[in-house]
Amino acid sequence: MMKKTILVTSLACAIGLGGQLSIAEAARNEPITPIPVQDKVDAPKVELGKKLFFDPRLSKSGFLSCNSCHNLSTGGADNLPSSIGHKWQLGPINSPTVLNARFNLAQFWDGRAKDLKEQAGGPIANPGEMASTHEIAVDVLSSIPAYIAEFKAVYGDKKVNMDRVTDAIASFEETLVTPDSPFDLWLKGDDAALSEEAKAGYDLFKNKGCIACHNGTGVGGTMYQKMGTVKPYTDTKTLGRYGVTGKDADKYFFKVPLLRNIELTAPYFHDASTWDLAEAVKMMGEYQLGLKLSDEETNKIVAFLKALTGKQPQISYPVLPPSTNKTPKPDRG
Ligand code: HEC
Ligand code: HEC
Repeated sequence: MMKKTILVTSLACAIGLGGQLSIAEAARNEPITPIPVQDKVDAPKVELGKKLFFDPRLSKSGFLSCNSCHNLSTGGADNLPSSIGHKWQLGPINSPTVLNARFNLAQFWDGRAKDLKEQAGGPIANPGEMASTHEIAVDVLSSIPAYIAEFKAVYGDKKVNMDRVTDAIASFEETLVTPDSPFDLWLKGDDAALSEEAKAGYDLFKNKGCIACHNGTGVGGTMYQKMGTVKPYTDTKTLGRYGVTGKDADKYFFKVPLLRNIELTAPYFHDASTWDLAEAVKMMGEYQLGLKLSDEETNKIVAFLKALTGKQPQISYPVLPPSTNKTPKPDRG
């Protein structure tokens, strides 16, 4: 009992950033913990962040917003092998979901951004993504009086800068959590919430060793691991964590992805090598564990993974304030 109390307390500290989430103590003592239901948020800041998340004027073309590649109608990802950026450029890597991204130890496949705020500045100025610059993005927002008024209401003065833009976007992203999946309801003690097949799948997920890497609130996002732990993986071009640390030992290491809502975010893996969740599970067995999972075992694990789909955030589509004559015009070149 003592041990459990300590575990739950430290967890509450780890994820109760700014006291925004309250943690319901899990009824079952498992290596996966339920997504806490959100109680308090800074509503005006979240609303501003939502507008920015949906505002295509943060891109050079005036066409791409964060939501273009992290579509909240499709599990917070784009369901493409790799994203389509400025002038239809095909990106180098599959877009991860923004749902529950707050539970990641760092952001991006290689963890190069330490948190959501640091991450949010990246895509706006990435020439292959939104292709704008931070200066232009700030000029665009500063040319729109309704935005200036909102920055003043949230931050106390009229200054618009990237620090505030990324802070507001991150606050919105922190609300993008998906509680009350069948698996979480089961974790909280509702025996009927999970099918027998999914329960058997969870047992396999633990007994076969998936849990060693995919654990915690996000069922992933707690560590970096090599793609190809047991058997070398086919993609040898994408070096993963090595790009951040420069250490040979980190070649082909990636942030272990969250498996929450995994059913919604095909195709799978950083290189989108499969669209089929069952095949992804078999590949994990083969490359990470040196196991050949039978069809029956695979189907059970897939049933468990599908039980990780939670209640999706209910987003009311924001109405963006109109541009003015001073707003820099979109540049599609
Ligand atoms: C053109 C498509 C595109 C746009 C636009 C885009 N992203 Fe992304 N996003 C990606 C891709 C691809 C990755 C993975 C890149 C990598 O890991 O190297 C990513 C990664 C992320 C991650 C990290 C998730 C994780 O699990 O590591 C977050 C959070 C995120 N984006 C938020 C945003 C926000 C906020 C915006 C708007 C400011 C945005 N993205 C705009 C494609 C896009
Ligand atoms: C040694 C650590 C490790 C083990 C064990 C492991 N995984 Fe993974 N898993 C990863 C890593 C790392 C990735 C990302 C690989 C990539 O994209 O290159 C991943 C990716 C996945 C994905 C795709 C996620 C996405 O968003 O594209 C699924 C599904 C998955 N794992 C399920 C499983 C299952 C089921 C098992 C057990 C049979 C398992 N994993 C065992 C580390 C592991």
